[in-house]
Amino acid sequence: MPTLTFAVLPGDYIGPEVMTEALRVLDYIAAKEGLTLSYAIADVGGAGIDRHGKALPDSTLELCRRSDAILFGSVGGPKWEKLPPNDQPERAALLPLRKAFSLFANIRPGLLYKDLVDASPLKAERIPNGIDIVCIRELTGGIYFGQPKTTTTLENGEQQAIDTMVYKTSEIERIAEVAAVTARSRGRRVCSVDKANVLETSVLWRRTVTEYFARKHPDLALTHMYVDNAAMQLARDPNQFDVLFTENMFGDILSDEMAVICGSLGMMSSASLGVGSNSHGRPFGLYEPAGGTAPDIAGQGVANPCAQILSAALMLRYSFGLDALASRIEAAVRKTVTVDGVRTGDIAFGRPRVGTREMADAIMRNL
Ligand code: IPM
Ligand code: MG
Repeated sequence: MPTLTFAVLPGDYIGPEVMTEALRVLDYIAAKEGLTLSYAIADVGGAGIDRHGKALPDSTLELCRRSDAILFGSVGGPKWEKLPPNDQPERAALLPLRKAFSLFANIRPGLLYKDLVDASPLKAERIPNGIDIVCIRELTGGIYFGQPKTTTTLENGEQQAIDTMVYKTSEIERIAEVAAVTARSRGRRVCSVDKANVLETSVLWRRTVTEYFARKHPDLALTHMYVDNAAMQLARDPNQFDVLFTENMFGDILSDEMAVICGSLGMMSSASLGVGSNSHGRPFGLYEPAGGTAPDIAGQGVANPCAQILSAALMLRYSFGLDALASRIEAAVRKTVTVDGVRTGDIAFGRPRVGTREMADAIMRNL
């Protein structure tokens, strides 16, 4: 009987509420399928700051090191807003985790069901069948981590800050591979986004991606787009993309744009995959909803648990190789929201609203 060992980091505000439901769904499906779940829960983000003095406590990091994956909730909120930028729960928890586990590949499905097109700020006629794209973002390179990264005082007394955007061929090729594999399982089209008309790193990016696909994936359709144009095209006609693939900072921005275009943040899952393999011969990964901690609705039992449940499904797929099981969870969420019309407040649009727990119960009935 396979044992799935993962760390559970619920985080702050609605984080623990939606995590509880995702764990119930996982426990339910594990019992049905004869899988053993071995998970422990640890503090992260504001909870880490409050109880251990830092956003990523050593004990939490240790737990993650003993695990094959991390199921992450959401961190941050008004309570910790006054802390210096480097100590903010989001930055001080996520960036070190990305670094510690070399989580270089961020995969964010941009999925909007046809029945939920009203959740999108785009006109329904632009997305008559909803949206179905994927954004692949490089997550451990570029201007986020490049050195030097300094603030100095110049001779005339004014301040000067420097960030450095750096990419190596090997870093570009390994994320290109993730984009290619993802495209292969979908529409076989990759659009690589860069700023090769201005940036050296982008010139290298474009050349490396072009050569890599020619060598390894000549059957896939590869196109290139400048990032400013990509931002426009995403808002104009998101479904022109299949796999949108880009470097760290461009991906940070475009994936948030994609999230808002896809309507409710409560439906958006994500996976961040590391290098090497875990004890299942799969990538170690961190799985988190894209929506954030939603302090305004925390503690009321009304948050949408779908993004957390869909993130758990991605964990089964990528870190444990249980693709069929992941697809079943995804299908159950889709049926619950569309066919059954079970809706939390964020996706209700005038329909009756259910709470966090009822939504998870309805999903389990469809499993
Ligand atoms: C994200 C977040 C992080 C990022 C922040 C919290 C550092 O916005 O996951 O997109 O910019 O990478
Ligand atoms: Mg971001």
